[in-house]
Amino acid sequence: MALLDVQNLSVNYGVIKALKGISFHVDKGEIVALIGANGAGKTTTLHTLSGLLKPESGTITYKDQNLVTTPGHKIVSLGMAHVPEGRRVFKDMTVLQNLKMGAYTRKDTAEFQSTLEMVYKRFPRLEERKEQLSGTLSGGEQQMLAMGRALMSHPDIILMDEPSMGLSPIFVNEIFSIIEDVNKDGVTVLLVEQNARKALTIADRAYVLETGSIVKEGNANDLLNDESIRKAYLGE
Ligand SMILES: Nc1ncnc2c1ncn2[C@@H]1O[C@H](COP(=O)(O)OP(=O)(O)OP(=O)(O)O)[C@@H](O)[C@H]1O
Ligand SMILES: [Mg+2]
Repeated sequence: MALLDVQNLSVNYGVIKALKGISFHVDKGEIVALIGANGAGKTTTLHTLSGLLKPESGTITYKDQNLVTTPGHKIVSLGMAHVPEGRRVFKDMTVLQNLKMGAYTRKDTAEFQSTLEMVYKRFPRLEERKEQLSGTLSGGEQQMLAMGRALMSHPDIILMDEPSMGLSPIFVNEIFSIIEDVNKDGVTVLLVEQNARKALTIADRAYVLETGSIVKEGNANDLLNDESIRKAYLGE
């Protein structure tokens, strides 16, 4: 039984058909990558999973619940966290205030402290900068903050939208190694990336999205060695 199961999902923006009946699943403990070019529908997929968009048709089953009829705020309390494209940290708030926002579904203050310590341990830069206004963090630090904020809600699954976007190679490596560590600690990951090579390197399985349809799926290693994928997405 998959942790997350999506069947025949279609999403329109007015007359634009952004997703044309896609089906995929994510099992507990996996890193699953969703790769595709600009405009393929990756962000639309994540927005629909976290309840920001309502689908035209199709089903989203998460922990045996139908997410299509579940309100967005409830989806977070079901253990699904979303790290949005472009990070979207609250720029006029400090690092610590942003992290507190991530824990809003949690009431217990002792637990808040221990979770905060866990996040600081994973991202020492955030602890050093906890009183700094988030808008003044570098792009890579903002990505860390967005991930830290998502981890504050103790997610079972984390949806990540282009975590490597705009980052230098060193930061990209750091972010990807943190994603692997978070996964090893038991968090399931659905990773959306244009950096297909990096995503396929850390993923267990992957789906390739092209103009709203899944055109290929498989074991991440097999896709890394697939000739059409290498030509289209790996620049070879
Ligand atoms: N709010 C919107 N209104 C109208 N069309 C939209 C809207 N948001 C997205 N689209 C269209 O839906 C399609 C899918 O967009 P989406 O943002 O999901 O792509 P993406 O795969 O995330 O691309 P990128 O890699 O550039 O982030 C695109 O053709 C886009 O123009
Ligand atoms: Mg996108």
